[in-house]
Amino acid sequence: MLTREQNDLLTQVGPATGMGKLLRCYWMPVAGVSEFDSIQSKPLKILGEDLVLYKDLSGRFGLVDRNCVHRRADLSAGMVEKQGIRCHYHGWLFSANGDCLEQPYEDTAHPEANSKSRLKIKSYPTEVKGGLIWAYFGQAPAPQLPDWEAFSWKNGFVQVVISSVPCNWFQCQENSIDPIHFEWMHENWGNRLRTNKLEFGAKHLKVDFKEFEHGFTYHRIKEGSDEQDEAWQIGRVCLWPNGFFLGEHFEWRVPIDDENTLSVTWKYTRVPKEMEPFEQSVIPTWYGPVFDEKGQPINTHVMNQDFLAWMGQGTVADRTKEHIGASDKGIVMMRKRFFDELQNHAHQKPLKAIILDASMNHHIPLPMVYGHQVTQSRSIQEIKEHKSLYPFYKSYVFQAGQPDWVKKMSSQAFGMEVEEFDGIVIPRQT
Ligand code: FES
Ligand SMILES: [Fe+2]
Repeated sequence: MLTREQNDLLTQVGPATGMGKLLRCYWMPVAGVSEFDSIQSKPLKILGEDLVLYKDLSGRFGLVDRNCVHRRADLSAGMVEKQGIRCHYHGWLFSANGDCLEQPYEDTAHPEANSKSRLKIKSYPTEVKGGLIWAYFGQAPAPQLPDWEAFSWKNGFVQVVISSVPCNWFQCQENSIDPIHFEWMHENWGNRLRTNKLEFGAKHLKVDFKEFEHGFTYHRIKEGSDEQDEAWQIGRVCLWPNGFFLGEHFEWRVPIDDENTLSVTWKYTRVPKEMEPFEQSVIPTWYGPVFDEKGQPINTHVMNQDFLAWMGQGTVADRTKEHIGASDKGIVMMRKRFFDELQNHAHQKPLKAIILDASMNHHIPLPMVYGHQVTQSRSIQEIKEHKSLYPFYKSYVFQAGQPDWVKKMSSQAFGMEVEEFDGIVIPRQT
């Protein structure tokens, strides 16, 4: 149980808050690169700030204040040009680093005043990696954008899946260090929804949590496994400060504001042997729905079940009313680390998992359970015969609503038909 003040400290992300300042020290994924194959700009709210993300005609991304510095028109309706974005209202032009490059009428009427040289709009640096656009909201200089090894894996079909979940980011991130919920929500509850049978799967017998440089790992032993299992030996990664790494995919929980979170998934699937060598020309980005057509939370797919649970905790979970149990040891560790890091930030001390040295930022490996399942080359036949692997090829099990055009792209990449997930979660095995 936390105090009201502690809960506020973990959950509030505005620019003046402790957590807002801490999270601004890390790069955040904010959109998919391929979105800008069909659009030129879009409004974006991140960490409570209203912004515009655009791609200029030179192919560079810019992230600037949503409202024009002149008379506050919406720059997301602006025109992109070679050197930035031009406000549609009176034509002022801004570069990606926020400089005002042109004020057409003022430049004509009073060229000697050069008033544009004194104007700047808010802007944030962006980088592109893994098919994602990343933004840095903190003070210069920006640290390295982590170059996770997974981004360099070959012969894979990658997709980016994004959803806006109407609840606070911290309850989403607590899910990254919560092994017991797999058994109950994704397996037992998920199967109950589908089959209406009162049957429970293998129980967790033991869990453990460890901290490492880039976050935490959680370790589990379930009925039918033992201490030799990679699930115990290696563990899964709760990535600092707002990610989750499960081997074949990352999930990030990016605060939109105090009451909404952008769920960003990067999903890799190794293509079958027959399809190699495979070069992906475009990493598709799609936006997954959180609610069905009746307005009910979708409960059929793994991450939709997560979303449903997070939203069920309340818009901002009230941790003054909770009763922490034995399964929550990792959550307690993570909260303590956040409180410690908030102090470190306040006292300008070094922060966890910040990479400053570019020479240390090359294909950084992360602990990975059942890594051979993710990166090993297998034939179509071998995949089809693999009871726990095939479902991850047959359909996108993580979120509902994969568009047909992405199904088609993945069917072509896999050399087998991809269809919508039927909603039965098959526990992953070695
Ligand atoms: S409001 Fe943007 S140029 Fe006038
Ligand atoms: Fe989950």
